[in-house]
Amino acid sequence: AVRLRVREALGAREPADAVRVQGWVRSVRSQKEVLFLHINDGSSLENLQVVADPSLEKRDLTFGSAVEVQGKLVKSPHKMQNMELQAETIHVVGPCDIWSFPLKMKERHPLEYVRQFPHLRCRNNTLGSLLRIRSEATAGIHSFFQDNGYVHIHTPIITSNDCEGAGELFQIEVSWAKESAEKTHFFNVPAFLTVSGQLHLEVMAGAFTHVFTFGPTFRAENSQSRRHLAEFYMVEAELSFTESLQDIMQVMEDLFKTVTSTVLSKCPRDVELFHKYIAPAQKSDITHKLFSSSCRISYSEAVEILKQAPQTFVFKPEWGCDLQTEHEKYLVKHCGEVPVFVVNYPYDLKPFYMRDNEDGPQHTVAAVDLLVPGVGELCGGSLREERLPFLESRLQRLGLTDAYQWYLDLRKFGSVPHGGFGMGFERYLQYILGVDNIKDVIPFPRFSHSCLL
Ligand code: 4AD
Ligand code: MG
Repeated sequence: AVRLRVREALGAREPADAVRVQGWVRSVRSQKEVLFLHINDGSSLENLQVVADPSLEKRDLTFGSAVEVQGKLVKSPHKMQNMELQAETIHVVGPCDIWSFPLKMKERHPLEYVRQFPHLRCRNNTLGSLLRIRSEATAGIHSFFQDNGYVHIHTPIITSNDCEGAGELFQIEVSWAKESAEKTHFFNVPAFLTVSGQLHLEVMAGAFTHVFTFGPTFRAENSQSRRHLAEFYMVEAELSFTESLQDIMQVMEDLFKTVTSTVLSKCPRDVELFHKYIAPAQKSDITHKLFSSSCRISYSEAVEILKQAPQTFVFKPEWGCDLQTEHEKYLVKHCGEVPVFVVNYPYDLKPFYMRDNEDGPQHTVAAVDLLVPGVGELCGGSLREERLPFLESRLQRLGLTDAYQWYLDLRKFGSVPHGGFGMGFERYLQYILGVDNIKDVIPFPRFSHSCLL
């Protein structure tokens, strides 16, 4: 018998005589004359209907059990599905104790409920869809950059640079160092889990005009918010010979549009599930999400808008202060619930590598943040300071000259105007799917609740 995935069986054009399908039972319905099963193998949201003679029913053929079915693939008489499988044999590969199994047949479990079972929740429809979407979006991100001539770089995960100011660090500690008399560093210097691949990408941007990285990123955020993770994935791009923030914003927008269209065309049913059951208000919003319109304001304009807002904020808006979540929310609302690019932030608010705009008394750098409805900051980027004297004096003032000698080197040997950005992958998924809690868009809700899976 030919082995078929559920997706292949459902999409088959022709009936087939001897096929074999493996998967997990999503429903069992036994009638006097016929036994119906629905099986799923993760290849699609839709289940394959199996029709069998009641004599094939056995005690351990239950919801959740793993089965292998052999039989004939035939046109289904039902309008809703193309094909169904007429079973000749049903083998229960792995039974499932339905009484202790936390998922129940035909129940739409809330995300909060399945979050308690990180090791079982992938068997639930919503998480199944999420994981397929996450997989397609990952492939879509790689294709977008590869198709546009970017070189993919594996930037290090363990690093001694702290990407100054990007976030709180996890430091690497060696287990045997605790027992040794003097505290030694494994690498002779303190080492951290990466908070951003940017500085490594900048190295590569000295030889490749377009580079990107897409990998795990770690921040010891002291916050239990619904949009922060200790371990998340970040997409980062760096472009050489770029003199305008507009070029950076264009790549953010193109990346967003291309990947979102890919996801929509590759897994329409999975996306629909989210829009139907998780975030019903989101569906009509999908055109917004494809950037049919967006808004661009400067940081100074943003502060003015906030100052004139009819509401009072917990954090009083003031030029020179960071935009808080409540401010981001208000700005997005003010602009009509569309993506908002905020550009040109105060010099003193941003890391040393951002390019000095050399503007008036309200002194700014060429930074850009992209804020989106419901999520807040989705992307952060900037032009980098490529002028040696500017960078030297800034590092000097910060007392970082020695540590960043290598970075200054990049400005000595063929320096070019360049810039780039990072996009939080989980926040991207939260945004397109309308998911409230960031823990529901990762495969394993690590270090949340009591489960350290
Ligand atoms: O704005 P950030 O800190 O930018 C950088 O790290 C730059 N060095 C990137 C670059 O220019 N190459 O982080 C980029 C994005 C944020 O906009 C946000 O979407 C996401 O990463 N992010 C997080 N996502 C989940 N959990 C966290 N703790 C996050 N911190 C940042
Ligand atoms: Mg940022």
